[in-house]
This record gives sequence, C-alpha cells and structure tokens, in this order.
Amino acid sequence: MIYFDYSATTPIHPDVLEIYTRYEREFFANANSSHALGQKTQRVIDEQLGIMSNLLGIQPNELIITSSAVESNNTVLKGVALKYPNKKHIISSSIEHASIIGAISFLEHQGYEIDFVNLDENGRFDLKHLESLLREDTLLVTLIAVDSETGIRQPIEEIGQLCHKHQVLFHSDITQAVGKSKFDLSNVDYASFSAHKIYGPKGVAGLIKKENVGLIPLLHGGHSITAYRASTPQTALVCALSKALQIAYETYEDRFTYVSQLKDYLIKKVSHLDRVVINSNHYSIPFIVNVSILDTRPEEILEVFSNEDCYLSSKSACSGQEEFSNSVFAITKDKQRAQSSYRISLSHLSTQSEIDTLVSVIERIVHES
Ligand SMILES: Cc1ncc(COP(=O)(O)O)c(C=O)c1O
Repeated sequence: MIYFDYSATTPIHPDVLEIYTRYEREFFANANSSHALGQKTQRVIDEQLGIMSNLLGIQPNELIITSSAVESNNTVLKGVALKYPNKKHIISSSIEHASIIGAISFLEHQGYEIDFVNLDENGRFDLKHLESLLREDTLLVTLIAVDSETGIRQPIEEIGQLCHKHQVLFHSDITQAVGKSKFDLSNVDYASFSAHKIYGPKGVAGLIKKENVGLIPLLHGGHSITAYRASTPQTALVCALSKALQIAYETYEDRFTYVSQLKDYLIKKVSHLDRVVINSNHYSIPFIVNVSILDTRPEEILEVFSNEDCYLSSKSACSGQEEFSNSVFAITKDKQRAQSSYRISLSHLSTQSEIDTLVSVIERIVHES
C-alpha cells in the first residue's frame, strides 16, 4: 500500500497505541470519583494537561478535551454565539473545514450575518479586506491556520493582532498546522486541533480557550475535566493525545527537513509533465502538495490510483462529492484546474520509492487519458 493521504488521517504511532492500551487498563477509574483510584486517575489527567499546555504555550486550564476537531469547531461557533448574544456578525472564509462552514450556515439561519475574507493571489487571507470587514457587532473571526487542500500557511499571528486591536475574538482551526508548522497562539483566543492528524487515535481532540474569554458548553452534564465539556473523562485518550503531541513536537525539525526534501523531489519529478500543474506555493507546508492533472475527472483518476494500491485525495475528504476545490479556485480562478486537483499529503513515513511509484502512475494517466 502506498498512502499519500496523511492530511485526511494518520496511522497511530506504536508508542501512542501502547500508552493508550496501558492507561486504559491501569487507569480505568472515573477521574471524577472521590475514592483513591479516581483521584489517582485525576492526577494522571492533570499531569498530561500540564505537558500539553506547556507544548502549546497555554495554561493547563485553557485546554478543553473534546472528541474531534469537528466538535471543537462547533463548540466554539455555537458556544461563543450563546455567550455573547448581542453580537450577530461572524467573519470566516471559503476555505474553512466543513465543520466551520456547517456551523456558520446554522448560525446564518438563526439570523447571523456572515462575511468571508478574500484571498490574495498567493492564497493568503487579505488582511486589509479583513480589517474593512470588522464591525462593532462582530462576534468572532474564525480563520484556518493551514489550508487542508493546498497546505498554504495563513498569518494567524498577524490576524490575531488585528482582531485584538479591534477588540474582536479570534478562533483558528489549527488542525492541519499542529506538528507541521510553527505557530504562536499569543493572540489567538480559541483554537481547535485533533489527535488523529498527528498519529494519535481517532475520537479525541483539543479545544483551546483562553482564560479571559467566554464560552457556553454544548454538552451539559456537570464539571468533567473542565466545566466546558461534560462526560466521564477519557483518561487513556487524553494520555494518547498527549503522547502524540509530545512526539510531534520532539520530532518536528527532523520530520520537517525530511519531508521538505521529499516534496522537492516530488515537485521536480512531476512539474515537467504535460498537463500537470502545481497549485501549492512557497507558503505551503511541505506536507501537502496540491497538483492539477488537467482534463481529468477525480472520481476516475482516484480509482486508477486505488487499483495500484495508492491512496490520495481529490479534495478535503470531508467535502461533498460534487464540489471542486475552493482553495485551488481561490488562488487560480480557474474552475477546470480546481476540478482536476489532487492533494498528495506526505509524511515522515513516506519514501522516495513510494514517490517514484506515484509519479509513474501519474505519467501513465497523462499519456493514456
Ligand atoms: C482543518 C480541519 N479541521 C477539522 C477537521 C475535522 O477533524 P476531526 O476528524 O477530528 O473531526 C479536519 C479533518 O478533516 C481538518 O482538516
């Protein structure tokens, strides 16, 4: 199997799986129980929250554990709207994950006004346009940190400064950035990320909420790990998330360097091919290479790749079947290019020989279709 869909999900790291099974066995007690075993379990969770918050540059009480980045995103959008009911304007973008777009559409139906920030020719948010959209009644600006389709990194530090200058709250979906890009959350009020994108298990994620900003929880049911998300603390999943995060931070430089070399190799091999155009640019993280193979239909081409036991995606795995890539269209203004775009996502687990196989399949497609 040749897997180039690491931005959709990653295989669990063996050490993370080991931690998960060990803690599930040894610390199965309910951390909210007042007996000694419960309290011991609570201490394990507190310790891991401390480790994770230290890595993320936040306070331990600023990390809420959720089940997924979809849940984190929905909690922020709806929970902030409930907390500050007098503000009815939200700013976002066309390249957000479906969970942001979905939550925003829901709020739009409740009477909220939505504005989308333009992208410049490099696929980055136009900050002048963003500033012109900010209003007295703006509830929240929610903008993604790294575009999941083109890998383009957005200037979330500057966006945060701008929002704070205008006293507007800022949320960023950092799901594709964690472990793959450096970022500073000093001026970010809320942020969402997920374990399964960083070689952790599915079913656990994080929501950062700074201490000085408000939020109404979506799930009520008493104080759990925090007051913002009820249900019995998922001790082993918290430990697994923490281990995945620790490995991501410890190995960041090595993985980044290795994957950068692989990306250069891939681009060198495909960029001279007929009908192949590269959509990612110098703002893209090396882990995502977006290419268009012109005059092809993704549903057919992905099958060709699958028949070779080779897996990549034609756009964000969570988008609807009919859509084309908003991100590629935003940069290229070329519908055909956006319709025939493919995301090749690389990892420290990828090899040059896997890329050779991928390139040979692309060459065949270009010659035969
Ligand atoms: C940018 C972004 N946000 C949110 C999600 C959803 O993550 P989860 O599967 O943890 O809900 C994804 C995953 O596809 C993503 O790429």
